[in-house]
Amino acid sequence: MRHRRTSIGPTIPSREISPEPSYVARRQVMTGAAVFAAAGAVELGARRAFSATVPAPDLAALTYRKGPLGTDEAQTPLKDVTSYNNFYEFGTDKGDPGQTAHTLKVRPWTVTCEGEIGKPQVLDIDTLLKLFPLEERVYRLRCVEAWSMVIPWVGFPLASLIKKLEPTSKAKFLAFTTLHAPDQMPGQRRPVLDWPYVEGLRMDEGLHPLTLLAVGLYGKSLPNQCGAPLRLVVPWKYGYKSIKSIVKLRFVEKQPPTSWNLSAPNEYGFYSNVNPDVDHPRWSQARERRIGEFIRRKTLPFNGYADQVASLYAGMDLRANY
Ligand code: MTE
Repeated sequence: MRHRRTSIGPTIPSREISPEPSYVARRQVMTGAAVFAAAGAVELGARRAFSATVPAPDLAALTYRKGPLGTDEAQTPLKDVTSYNNFYEFGTDKGDPGQTAHTLKVRPWTVTCEGEIGKPQVLDIDTLLKLFPLEERVYRLRCVEAWSMVIPWVGFPLASLIKKLEPTSKAKFLAFTTLHAPDQMPGQRRPVLDWPYVEGLRMDEGLHPLTLLAVGLYGKSLPNQCGAPLRLVVPWKYGYKSIKSIVKLRFVEKQPPTSWNLSAPNEYGFYSNVNPDVDHPRWSQARERRIGEFIRRKTLPFNGYADQVASLYAGMDLRANY
């Protein structure tokens, strides 16, 4: 990822912003077995440095069942899920959110639901937590930077909330907004992105049964660095679509702006479906580094969820609509 350089405020050296491209560049000057040995050593060292975690509270008094949708692949250890993060509101290094996101206040918390719906309302997070049955979904998460994890989320289908709000016939897209609170989110004091972070989905993507609003992981409430108290999870899209710490959901007629597309439109599109055949302008998307593994594995179309979601994009040019 990279940041949008602006004329005001401090600029951040690109090495702080783009760990993956620099990693790729480093690999390009090395060859053969030496690449794997050296890269593996760098990865191990880096992850040891990120070992501090913020303990997650229990999902108090809430029960959840194991959902029917999910993978039985090996799950990424909790310590990696909570110490290797992208949450630029808390810094641009992978270890920053785990160290600093304790400043985020997740209670009280409300989610404003507005726009093209029959039932606009402001939902308190503790009310929202009890509206729908919670279930566990073990999903692959593939970051556009070419690393991936397998995470046991706890949440409910976004479709359940959409239906409750009674969208009008004009509601074609969903626009999500993260909290804007520079006093709690120190990264928002720097012009790395246009704050607050915003994301969007087409309505049929939001209604797809795989699309989850997560409130927890590994059976506990979401740790702050993972997007507490409510985040989106869209497993067939690059991780940046999975917006964290949501305070607003707006139903709109036109395709809404999205943070990374605003920042670098030639690098990050609206759809952002995982696609091994379309490289990022600065690195390949053909393979990925599963956190905890040494050898890169092949990236699968739609992150392995093609059977469930490819039909959403029938007839679309997925190179043009990246
Ligand atoms: N949401 C907000 N508000 N801010 C962010 O910086 N980063 C995105 C996404 N959601 C981000 C965000 C990116 S780039 C990724 S890969 C995932 O969160 C990372 O989720 P994780 O840290 O829980 O693995």
